[in-house]
Amino acid sequence: MKKIALIGSTGSIGKQTLSVVRRHSDKFKIVSLAAGSNVGEFYNQVNEFKPKVATLSYEPKDLKDNLSSGIEFYSGENAFTNAIIDDADIVVVALVGFKGIIAVLDAIEKGKDIALANKESLVVGGELVMEKAKEKGVKIMPVDSEHSAIWQCLNFDFNATFNKIILTASGGAFRDFDMEKLKTVTAKDALMHPNWNMGAKITVDCATLVNKAFEVIEAKWLYNTSFDKIDVIIHRESIVHSMVELNDGAVMAQLGFPSMELPIQLALTYPERINSGVKSLDFSAIKNLSFASVDYQRFPCFNLVLTAAKEGGQYPAVANGANEQAVKLFLENKIGYFDIYKAIFGALQSYYGGHHVHFEDLESADEFARNYVKALFGVK
Ligand SMILES: NC(=O)c1ccc[n+]([C@@H]2O[C@H](COP(=O)([O-])OP(=O)(O)OC[C@H]3O[C@@H](n4cnc5c(N)ncnc54)[C@H](OP(=O)(O)O)[C@@H]3O)[C@@H](O)[C@H]2O)c1
Repeated sequence: MKKIALIGSTGSIGKQTLSVVRRHSDKFKIVSLAAGSNVGEFYNQVNEFKPKVATLSYEPKDLKDNLSSGIEFYSGENAFTNAIIDDADIVVVALVGFKGIIAVLDAIEKGKDIALANKESLVVGGELVMEKAKEKGVKIMPVDSEHSAIWQCLNFDFNATFNKIILTASGGAFRDFDMEKLKTVTAKDALMHPNWNMGAKITVDCATLVNKAFEVIEAKWLYNTSFDKIDVIIHRESIVHSMVELNDGAVMAQLGFPSMELPIQLALTYPERINSGVKSLDFSAIKNLSFASVDYQRFPCFNLVLTAAKEGGQYPAVANGANEQAVKLFLENKIGYFDIYKAIFGALQSYYGGHHVHFEDLESADEFARNYVKALFGVK
């Protein structure tokens, strides 16, 4: 029985993780649950899975009426670290945003293997995270579908050599919009992802292609490679989850119906493969598998974020922090699509930080970027 600490249980990945646990209740047990502010969903989950520890980002008034005695409860913005308990064999990090790195570093410190959904942790602190994981002998299993695909194409060998990684991208909600139309798009438009049903922040990141730039960074760190060995290709159907060209030129691809349950489950069962309940692909019904290059003009955030990543040090944390704050404002309909670029660009231009990557440096770079974006758009 694998014991799971689930951080970010009420989100899209969190709920799908619980669906995997339900399907294989003979193999998995939830020992702790951590959520933010979706209290109703959290109570349902706690009552169903009866974890030893449960946490929320704040303490609701009706807590005592809804939580059975015997469950240890913690509240606060970073209370989720209390859910990374000794009992857990693996920690699913399904929090969204910068805070993910706090969970990842805490899990590593406690010597726990990680099923990693939170890509921001590798974007802001890939060097730090990978170094600490190596030191502690902690395994990081990818949950992101593209990185899981690469993992599978490489026979689960993080140190395999290859010519290049080819990350596929659906192109997001705005893939067919021209420059004029992009000037007037709203949060509602961005949230209509053509193929995946995900949390709001990542759905907007897909629409700007920031998500794809983040995935390039994530792949660099997970597969110990360089940026020039990672290509991105638009693949509208989201059937090919990513590919790897091996040293002899052979290309391995992983295909499947677009569902996160397979990569989530594989990160938990690795090296075993068991029934995932994911629909079979009907090749006779798939009319087309298309591939096209990225249009960098309509999606300028892609190269901007990668420039920050290539600069290294604290710059990726600045890009991430600015993006997080800008996406929040975009979701509140306070700024437009191209303002997200303006926010990241401005924050990077104004930052004079160094190349140290201690957690405190990354945290202050993140704070700088958020404050910069708030000042830029005149919000508190
Ligand atoms: N969704 C996908 O298909 C997908 C695919 C690949 C990678 N990812 C990555 O996985 C991560 C999660 O994505 P998502 O789509 O699942 O996001 P989401 O639906 O927005 O869920 C985010 C989760 O984080 C929780 N949370 C936020 N602040 C918290 C805090 N201070 N303490 C504890 N929990 C907190 C939320 O709790 P409340 O809802 O209770 O506030 C929620 O459970 C992201 O990094 C994303 O890039 C997602």
